[in-house]
Amino acid sequence: KPTVVSGIRSTGNLHLGNYFGAIKNFVKMQEDFHCNFFIADCHSLTTHPTPGDLHKNVRQVLAEYLACGVDPEKATLYIQSDVPEISELYMYMNMNAYLGELERTTSFKDKARKQPDNVNAGLLTYPVLMASDIIIHKAHFVPVGKDQEQNLEMARKFAKRFNRMYKNEIFPIPRPFTFDGKSMVKIPGLDGSGKMGKSEGNAIGLVEDPKSIHKKVMRAVTDAGPTEMNQEKPEVIQNLFQLMNVVSTPDTVLHFDDLYNKCEIRYGDLKKQLAEDIIQFTAPIRERIIEIEKDDAYLAKVAKIGAEKARESASKTLQEVRETIGIKRFF
Ligand code: TYM
Repeated sequence: KPTVVSGIRSTGNLHLGNYFGAIKNFVKMQEDFHCNFFIADCHSLTTHPTPGDLHKNVRQVLAEYLACGVDPEKATLYIQSDVPEISELYMYMNMNAYLGELERTTSFKDKARKQPDNVNAGLLTYPVLMASDIIIHKAHFVPVGKDQEQNLEMARKFAKRFNRMYKNEIFPIPRPFTFDGKSMVKIPGLDGSGKMGKSEGNAIGLVEDPKSIHKKVMRAVTDAGPTEMNQEKPEVIQNLFQLMNVVSTPDTVLHFDDLYNKCEIRYGDLKKQLAEDIIQFTAPIRERIIEIEKDDAYLAKVAKIGAEKARESASKTLQEVRETIGIKRFF
């Protein structure tokens, strides 16, 4: 069975982008692959959460993973910081990651622009830690959304470089994964611009209550409407259709597409339908999140078993790495 690794930062409530870009595939892949899914709590330290918030968010994401159907009996589900082997590998990998290439990473440049007063070294070496997450289990596939494409490209580069430097095929070169050769997913936000994201403030959470979902969708940006038959949709409208594509039935999408093409569309109706379909989709997940969140003992058990399984695999790789680079004990 090929090995799979993917993670989600513990930055708060998961949204539709996380679900359709990542978790949906996790749930499918756990049936046929050797899967490792984790909560990237160390990665989220780059933005300096309070200790209380960090812990709360890790717990939340763990409950959300489970509520979405990630099964700890099928996949190894763990918290990054519970596997110290990753941090050690990260240190070794940092020795062969160069300032220039790290500075040129788009996500680094973006973050540096967004938080100019906190351009920390963790932000710079973020892709090195991510590479370590992946190669510590010798992963073949990494299911992620489109926004992680460049980080994954860096991971491939670091894995190749290590193999080449030590003339050793220790790491498989990890590849992005999508089903049926489809392209990587990017779920748009409701504000008409770019992707849905927690920090973009344009996200719909899986645990969000129906009222709030309805309000957000009804407020989504639209335009004055088509003026010609079969006109191409502008980006803001395409975004709404794209969301509809993932939560509504094909018939619903076709219906509104048809109205658009005939210049008979009323955006209010489209949004109302979209809100309803999102609510219907998230409702059972939301219920499960609320249930699981209450169960401290279950969460603790899942985290413990996950950590044990992940460490077993991670420590094997780390031992190989140490030997490869010449770190050998004298005792
Ligand atoms: P993060 O926490 O930002 O997002 C988790 C997953 O959700 C996907 N995603 C989206 N997909 C489509 N459309 C969107 N609008 C959208 N927003 C988020 C992300 O692509 C991702 O798959 N660096 C990673 C976490 C990470 C990781 C790793 C991933 C750390 N180590 C090792 C894979 C392997 C991140 O910040 O994801």
